[in-house]
Amino acid sequence: MISSVIEERKVLRDKSVLLGVTGGVAAYKAVDLIRRLRDEGTSVIVIMTEAAKKFITPLSLEIASQNRVYSDLFSDPMAHITLSANADIMVVAPATANTIGKFARGIADNLLTTCLLSFIGKVVIAPSMNWRMYENPVFQENLKYLLSRGVIQVGPEKGGLACGEEGMGRMSDISEIIETIRSALSQKDLAKEKILVTAGPTREYLDPIRFISNRSSGRMGYAIARAALRRGAEVILISGPSVLSQPKGIKFVLVDTTVDMLNAVNRELPSSTVLIMSAAVSDFVPAEKAEEKIEKSEELLLGLHRTPDIISEIGKRINRPFIIGFAAETGRKIERARRKLKEKDMDMIIFNDITETGSGFDVDTNSVVIIDRKKEIRLPLMSKDSVADAILDRLVELRAK
Ligand SMILES: Cc1cc2nc3c(=O)[nH]c(=O)nc-3n(C[C@H](O)[C@H](O)[C@H](O)COP(=O)(O)O)c2cc1C
Repeated sequence: MISSVIEERKVLRDKSVLLGVTGGVAAYKAVDLIRRLRDEGTSVIVIMTEAAKKFITPLSLEIASQNRVYSDLFSDPMAHITLSANADIMVVAPATANTIGKFARGIADNLLTTCLLSFIGKVVIAPSMNWRMYENPVFQENLKYLLSRGVIQVGPEKGGLACGEEGMGRMSDISEIIETIRSALSQKDLAKEKILVTAGPTREYLDPIRFISNRSSGRMGYAIARAALRRGAEVILISGPSVLSQPKGIKFVLVDTTVDMLNAVNRELPSSTVLIMSAAVSDFVPAEKAEEKIEKSEELLLGLHRTPDIISEIGKRINRPFIIGFAAETGRKIERARRKLKEKDMDMIIFNDITETGSGFDVDTNSVVIIDRKKEIRLPLMSKDSVADAILDRLVELRAK
């Protein structure tokens, strides 16, 4: 058994984003986008259009990016070539109807549109405008053309617009834009996989309103689903009740009880190549479920039965997918996880001691050991997004053999 420790991997670290900010009401949101990208270790160079300066000052973007802000095509004769040559990705957020139209028609009449033409990498655009502009067939035609040329669109969303109207046109949330950039920069090493992920807790009812459950938030499973999608997999996420928002681009199935989860897994499994069971499935179900709310009394003795063991059931099947399970334990019971891997016939198990600070339920970080038949990889405390990538890295390695 080989044991190793690996470093946290971040897709956006040391990448360089050339950000175009255009003249829309959402221009002020560029400050937050820049700040969040810099938090990820990304360097950001901003090009503003003249119209963008009516909405936000170059100084704000200079402070946020800690870099010079570019705008004029002629003040720096080589900028229209060098800025794009040095960027890993171009992002236009917000992207006005005007700039999108120019880009679609190959017009290069300012520094941003010229850089868009001289850039050979991936371009992400975040359209933002009034719904009537967005739905205009001329604009839609321009957008369709850019998408057909490989430009990546994020948003817009439906909702209240700055003009006071409701409709499609609000720029996507910053987290959504960042996720799209991350995805555009990710290797598509899971493109051939269809990955079924379970997440969150399940609930077992005593009566119509009371249940037993556990503290799982679903964060780890949702992070795995997002990472797998970024890396090109087709993803199905079966989730127990969770406050997290439904990841976009993923087939999402909401379930309640363990039996619901088992049924959903059985329905989605036949076409899946990998099953990742990160859900904290209830181990017990009340022996009886009352039809009506149980009356208050001095004492209530609860009889519990075992719930079906989803992984064991699937592990026994002949045509089973690659199976990754989770063992959330209190205390250093890694031996129990190693045993579970063999007994339940899994291909990989993720052990985590939920009593460690910053690890386990309801936090954004985790500290786990990835265990398979050949190797154990101990990860330091890191974000659940990075843990997800490390698990998928090992999956890719094992599937390549
Ligand atoms: C108050 C105001 C708000 C505007 N908001 C938007 C907007 O959100 N989206 C958009 O596409 N155009 C918007 N426009 C129109 C653009 O500013 C205009 O088309 C401009 O030429 C865009 O230039 P640029 O694409 O070079 O930045 C707005 C105009 C005004 C006066």
